[in-house]
Amino acid sequence: MNKIGELREIIKQSNNIVFFGGAGVSTESNIPDFRSAKGLYNAKSEYGYSPEDMLSINFFLKHTAIFYDYYRKNILHTDAEPNDAHLALAKLERIGKLKAVITQNIDGLHQKAGSKEVLELHGTVSRHFCMNCKSSYSWMDVENAEGVPICNICSGTIRPDIVLYGEALDNDVIGKSVDYIEKADTLIIGGTSLVVYPAAGLITYFKGKNLILINREGTPYDGKANLVINESIGKVLKKALEEL
Ligand code: OAD
Repeated sequence: MNKIGELREIIKQSNNIVFFGGAGVSTESNIPDFRSAKGLYNAKSEYGYSPEDMLSINFFLKHTAIFYDYYRKNILHTDAEPNDAHLALAKLERIGKLKAVITQNIDGLHQKAGSKEVLELHGTVSRHFCMNCKSSYSWMDVENAEGVPICNICSGTIRPDIVLYGEALDNDVIGKSVDYIEKADTLIIGGTSLVVYPAAGLITYFKGKNLILINREGTPYDGKANLVINESIGKVLKKALEEL
């Protein structure tokens, strides 16, 4: 049996699947990841600062206008559509096999594909809020504003509801993620280099039977997986679910 066939059999036998993913899940929606050759961290910066620096809270507070220029050009992808990976995961949830998607992504594409239980470890660009009065703003408000978006109620600075470097993850989201992972019989990990903590550390809570890794490149956790598939996650998940 080939690897996709093996994955199909595991999915058929599993009833409590959790998916843990990262930027590689959205590359087939034309959103670049971070660490691949064509990823954001390997792109030439027109700003004189590295992308990692620009995605930190200190940088946001100090150079808010530059942050927003970078953010609008590279992080906000308001016209992106879900790809085969997002759609397959939504289907797995619909048929009752998948209990949660835990993602490091901030693009909102799992929800757009129809997934209901989505835990966003690094927040989401779907929400923005005023740092002063906490009023909510949509990504369209931010995309259409000129320069730094300002609250029209109190003139405070608006920020995206994402976790920037130097900020803590939400404890509630972490707690729920650990809970889902601990109870899962199958953990499918995909499209993530598994090098960013604390997010990557969550997978060590898995005690179930099948640990599956679907990623184009190797990861530090390959040796712990029962099945490693180094191919496109959209193609793999679509094929694995064909007869389900
Ligand atoms: P990375 O860019 O580190 O890793 C993405 C992985 O997905 C790479 O190993 C690719 O080989 C793989 N990949 C890309 N496209 C794929 C595809 N179509 N099919 C299968 N695999 C594919 O992204 P993350 O692991 O998500 O954090 O990065 C983690 C965090 O680092 C991000 O959430 C972000 C970043 O800094 C913050 O900004 C806080």
